[in-house]
Amino acid sequence: MKPIGAIYPGSFDPVTNGHLDLIERGAKIFTRLTVAVLRNAEKEPLFGATERAEMLREVTRPWPNVEVDLFDGLLVDYARRVNAHVILRGIRAISDYEYELQMALMNRKLEPHMETVFMMPAEAYSYLSSRLVKEVFRLGGDISGLVPGVVVERLRAKAL
Ligand code: PNS
Repeated sequence: MKPIGAIYPGSFDPVTNGHLDLIERGAKIFTRLTVAVLRNAEKEPLFGATERAEMLREVTRPWPNVEVDLFDGLLVDYARRVNAHVILRGIRAISDYEYELQMALMNRKLEPHMETVFMMPAEAYSYLSSRLVKEVFRLGGDISGLVPGVVVERLRAKAL
């Protein structure tokens, strides 16, 4: 089998245990997995791109074949630059499917050699999203077990 490097792109604002579950699964099947943080998201992120990448680097340390990078512009252009042909995305529920299908087909239109591979996180994370974590935290709810400790610390620091 030839080595296959994949990119796992996203906003990761912030990384959740659902993302980590997917990274763990991806790290098992790809030779190299690059977690690519979108730098200039249209939506106003809570954490700056560097901060999001720092948290990811910290929590992905256990996997030697996982690296964290930042990108802006088109994902397919970034993928071309780093010579990756596979995009990894997670699908939690049917509701994710339409958006993910649109993105995968648009990326294929832009770069026919690019394949998108979908993986499912553990069911326990099927309701989890960065957006809900931020909302629950902001409103004083318990987010333990949903995000890594470093994220809880950074959220607390932001709230001060
Ligand atoms: O975590 P998200 O917000 O669902 O990730 C979305 C992301 C970063 C994968 C997507 O917005 C993206 O690839 N943006 C880069 C710009 C781009 O290539 N747009 C066309 C993709 S169809």
